[in-house]
Amino acid sequence: MKMKRLSTSCLLMVTLVVLWNSQAFANARPGNTVNFNKDWRFNLGDVTNGQAPELDDSKWRALNLPHDWSIEGEFDEKHPAGFGGGALPGGTGWYRKTFNVPESDKGKFVFIDFDGVYRNSEVWINGHFLGKRPYGYISFQYNLTPYLNIDGKNVIAVKVDNSQQPNSRWYSGSGIYRNVWLTTTDHVRVDHWGTYITTPEVSEQLARVIIKTKVREILQSNVTLVSDIQLTTIVYSATGQEVARATSKNVQVTNHAPTEISQELVVKSPNLWSIERPPLYRAVSLVETRGKTIDRYETPFGIRYFAFDREKGFFLNGKRVKINGVCDHHDLGALGAAVNTRALERQLEILKAMGVNGIRTSHNPPAPELLDLADRMGFIVMDEAFDMWKKGKTKFDYHLDWDEWHRRDLEDMVLRDRNHPSIFIWSIGNEISEQWGGDPAAGIIGKELSGIVRSLDKTRPITAACNFVDEKNTLISNGDLDLVGINYAHDRIPQLPKLFPGRTFIGTETVSALASRGSYDMPSDVIRRWPHRWDENFKDGNPDFSVSAYDNCSAPWGSTQEETWKLVKKNDFFSGQFIWTGWDYIGEPTPYSWPARSSYFGIIDLAGFPKDTFYMYQSEWTSKPVLHIFPHWNWKQGDPVDVWAYFNSDEVELFLNGKSLGTKRKSGDDLHVMWRVPFEPGTLKAVSRSHGKVVLTREIRTADQPARIILSPDRKVISADGSDLSFVTVKVVDANGTVVPHADNLVKFQLTGAGSIAGVDNGSQISHEPFKANYRKAFNGLALAIIQSKDRAGRITLKATSDGLAAASVVIEAK
Ligand code: GAL
Repeated sequence: MKMKRLSTSCLLMVTLVVLWNSQAFANARPGNTVNFNKDWRFNLGDVTNGQAPELDDSKWRALNLPHDWSIEGEFDEKHPAGFGGGALPGGTGWYRKTFNVPESDKGKFVFIDFDGVYRNSEVWINGHFLGKRPYGYISFQYNLTPYLNIDGKNVIAVKVDNSQQPNSRWYSGSGIYRNVWLTTTDHVRVDHWGTYITTPEVSEQLARVIIKTKVREILQSNVTLVSDIQLTTIVYSATGQEVARATSKNVQVTNHAPTEISQELVVKSPNLWSIERPPLYRAVSLVETRGKTIDRYETPFGIRYFAFDREKGFFLNGKRVKINGVCDHHDLGALGAAVNTRALERQLEILKAMGVNGIRTSHNPPAPELLDLADRMGFIVMDEAFDMWKKGKTKFDYHLDWDEWHRRDLEDMVLRDRNHPSIFIWSIGNEISEQWGGDPAAGIIGKELSGIVRSLDKTRPITAACNFVDEKNTLISNGDLDLVGINYAHDRIPQLPKLFPGRTFIGTETVSALASRGSYDMPSDVIRRWPHRWDENFKDGNPDFSVSAYDNCSAPWGSTQEETWKLVKKNDFFSGQFIWTGWDYIGEPTPYSWPARSSYFGIIDLAGFPKDTFYMYQSEWTSKPVLHIFPHWNWKQGDPVDVWAYFNSDEVELFLNGKSLGTKRKSGDDLHVMWRVPFEPGTLKAVSRSHGKVVLTREIRTADQPARIILSPDRKVISADGSDLSFVTVKVVDANGTVVPHADNLVKFQLTGAGSIAGVDNGSQISHEPFKANYRKAFNGLALAIIQSKDRAGRITLKATSDGLAAASVVIEAK
């Protein structure tokens, strides 16, 4: 591995650290790429000869992609995905799109890109088979050119087969659930994922930027040679200034293999990419012949350098940073797996507000939009390839495709993603079964996969998420991992340097605490480990399938939020963690089974409402003043109620109906304070102070009967592009505006104007109401309606009514 510029602080630790070349970035697309999501036809169920161009699909459902048919289904424990997969249907579906290629495109080359199809996609153009991709999380491209009818009708047909279930341990979704793109090029072009940008030397004065560009000739006939090609690459700063340029002349290009051109540029006084400030540069590649530009390809990238130190953990641009990350699955709650950039952005915004700086794309390559957002918003991403290798975890999962596809899929992941500055770690697998019992296969396959990744990118460390934390794990000992990835085993964090001498570490997966938003079981200081064993059919939970949100319940292999954070915080060598999970997700409703159908692991519920521990992290991970007290204040007279406060000032004083219950300070490694208070109705007030001065005040009041609805959109103006969203929080409140803690009133929505209801939710793990509906019961006082724009500007009015409650309405502007 090449060394990059060493800052003085880095020089001191050169013997201890693994330094990584800083890397460049974001999702590159050719200039002549258009979105191809509109006007598809869909049929749920198999169709004989569904690829035949002459087939009459006029009665099929018309829709725009991305689309997930599973999320439209009904919850049923009999669906073969099981409650672990979200109890929603799978099956087979067909998509078709009819389109014209204009006469002006004669002699051009046309490619289609699918960012992800779950799963077993087969694609045809005008009846010609283009190929199959079993893995549901991989992006792929086909060349349509030889089979296109120029100036005539063309039919693209996609069969999606998600009928063999279970094939996932969580909700996967079904269909063409990510974006589709069409690219038209000349006969010489930058190859698919054809740029690779690295910055092997970075200092405040300059960054050396190496851009390797693959240029290809794509005529279908015999091998041809084109020699009058010139490649110019221009680097622009985040503000659009040209900062560097290189030209390579007389490039020779053939159609049997791409020609790789390496160019070296210097960016003076580079703006470094960081979590707080992530400026992006753009490399624009121009393929030119005889003075004419015939292809333009844009690669966003970032300039940064980083290191993992054996004693001090992770450093970004020479500055020590604890990786405070979360794991997340790909579903977007009520929207299912169908990717939506605004929904992803909202997820990241809420995580950022909590202080999260890292994302693990568990356990598969994500939608490219997630990486683009992480680049723009400043997150440290661990990009993960697989949840299993040769040994399966569910009957029909990817292990059946392993032998034929793993090399191709892993290569494609790295080729697609290696320019994103947000990616800092590659993970070659999660808790793969081969680790156990000293099986040499773990080491052998681990080495093979690490080799594949390294052959395409040496600028980031490779890890695997290991839950067999033992020297006998051949994946750790022989698998060529740069970073030892530890899942759980928090008690053993302090011993890791002794157990694996000379290695660097990351908590690839931690915690697995459980909670339902707004549910509280007392006493709060008794920790439940639910279920008692991982393979147990758990029966003695709460009858309403709730889990206490006091941070007093976790899976037995995990810990409460506080238990792990205390250890991660004080062990400097441990570079950080990815908590299981940031957001709740559909499926895997540990500790329960049916009727539960979505997870309890999230720090944020499925609808996007923070659970209480969100504020514990916020008080630790951000510098903004935090004071959060809970639970709600509706209990029985005289009941002892544990009142917790998360805060980051010196002390907090609590008052009940004006009477002080005492001032508390955290001591040792405390992360909260608690008062045990005999309940009496009224107002609980907390005042936090630092240096004797009031910092924040919070009040919780006893709520009366539900009286009205409050609607609060996260954005009142959205873009009229047919995909932008406004997330409207629905609160059931009493006459004074206090949220009624257990309110479960049925709220009905009426929408008029230039939008539609894309989904509804309330964050309950056991609701069997559909996500695609115009009604939802509140869960612990809250619900959510997701409003989507149409392709036209205008006002959108959402009205919410509920029997016995005063109605509410809100206007959102689509512009
Ligand atoms: C881990 C696994 C995750 C999830 C989690 C639940 O072992 O990697 O995918 O299942 O457990 O606690």
